[in-house]
Amino acid sequence: QKYQHLLVESRNQVGLVTLNRPKALNALCSDLFTELNEALAKFDNDDGIGAIVLTGSEKAFAAGADIKEMSNTNYIENFQSNFLGHWTQISKTRKPIIAAVNGFALGGGCELAMMCDIIYAGDKAKFGQPEIKLGTIPGAGGTQRLTHAVGKSKAMEMVLTGSWNLSAEEAERAGLVSKVFPADKVVDEAVKTAGKIAEHSRPMVQMAKEAVNQAYELNLSSGLLFERRLFHSTFGTADQREGMQAFIEKRPAKFGQK
Ligand code: HXC
Repeated sequence: QKYQHLLVESRNQVGLVTLNRPKALNALCSDLFTELNEALAKFDNDDGIGAIVLTGSEKAFAAGADIKEMSNTNYIENFQSNFLGHWTQISKTRKPIIAAVNGFALGGGCELAMMCDIIYAGDKAKFGQPEIKLGTIPGAGGTQRLTHAVGKSKAMEMVLTGSWNLSAEEAERAGLVSKVFPADKVVDEAVKTAGKIAEHSRPMVQMAKEAVNQAYELNLSSGLLFERRLFHSTFGTADQREGMQAFIEKRPAKFGQK
């Protein structure tokens, strides 16, 4: 499949999607998002793939939604087309996605990274929500996921000032990013981690992702019940028997039997 704005490849069991619109610093135009949804859905449905890495260029993960494309749209058009609605599909991907972020992750770029499950950052990455400077506000999670990730004070500061003032190091300290690497290493490290995830039982990985995500949706007792019921269900699988038997027999587990 040839994409206009993406490079797509697989490395063993890892799907790698690279945003490739360098002239606009990977600004997220509507066509790019349509392609991204398609590429992610393909990997999600591919039995040979266990986890996905999403990255951009060394200069920009993504510099936001495409300002030129949206500048002349109006309220009723955006309402009727449910503008940005198709962005939410990414967070419905069932396999884990690791964002490998270098350079600018601004506005929709920061929001896209936050739709992924794990964020690794290169040491020169910059996170920010500059929408306020454009006379608008974040529209794809910048007021919600960011607040969950870094807390109210930092989220307010970023969203209200519009400064892209969160460095990779600060983002790691605040919990937005799980690890920081030298810029030229971050994609390989993300692929390595994705590879580790891909060695585990596919259904267990999906269940674990679903359960962690419920922590953002449910109150504690409902979340714990959801978790426990999924945990119980794992005992109906061959992968659970294989995983525990392999431990007892001191050998690597072979997952994937139905
Ligand atoms: C459209 C963009 C763009 C964007 C950069 N470009 N960001 N085009 N939409 N978000 C284009 C520039 O117009 C320019 O095109 C080319 O990319 C290179 O950018 P420069 O500005 O020349 O690069 P530089 O001087 O290095 O500055 C980098 C930058 C700056 C600081 C990242 O580009 C910038 O401030 N970009 C906008 C960041 C932003 O406000 N993002 C939030 C968008 S709003 P030409 O043709 O001139 O070469 C948003 C709303 C979200 O995301 C709502 C919900 C999703």
